[in-house]
Amino acid sequence: MAIREILKMGDPRLLRVAEPITAFGTPELDSLVADMFDTMHAANGAGLAAPQIGVNLQLVIFGFQSNARYPDAPQVPETVLLNPVLTPLSDDMEEGFEGCLSVPGLRGSVPRHTRLRYEGVDQYGKAIRREVDGFHARVVQHEVDHLLGILYPMRIRDFSRFGFTEVMFPGLDPRADD
Ligand code: NI
Repeated sequence: MAIREILKMGDPRLLRVAEPITAFGTPELDSLVADMFDTMHAANGAGLAAPQIGVNLQLVIFGFQSNARYPDAPQVPETVLLNPVLTPLSDDMEEGFEGCLSVPGLRGSVPRHTRLRYEGVDQYGKAIRREVDGFHARVVQHEVDHLLGILYPMRIRDFSRFGFTEVMFPGLDPRADD
């Protein structure tokens, strides 16, 4: 297991469409997932997508019990999700602030579907199918966007709600300064 370097916005590898995974339960996949959790935990992240460490595969992880970067967010179960497919369950969109480990030091308000179903498999090929809303739905949409080469600033509509974390959220835990 190892902490991997997180690519930052501007790196063209973050703009690629990721490839589906076809082999499950392999030692290579186990070790990639372990590295991603090490990397996410070291950075206090709520989620991480494989392209953020330069691996162009449809693999995201997310979840936490409590998170210094999002102190008001409800718990999200720790999840490994491969080859995800999202289906919005409502036309309602909701604005909410997001940060990204590939866009350090900044936060922006991003519109997301309030409710959706996500389907895919875990690293052993076991099916995952969940209907979620709120912050859980937001995190999934943010991570799956990474597999499409989309970073959250590309989805911002109101740039008056985009800025430096330390300016916009001065009370936030310093560990959240990513
Ligand atoms: Ni991100």
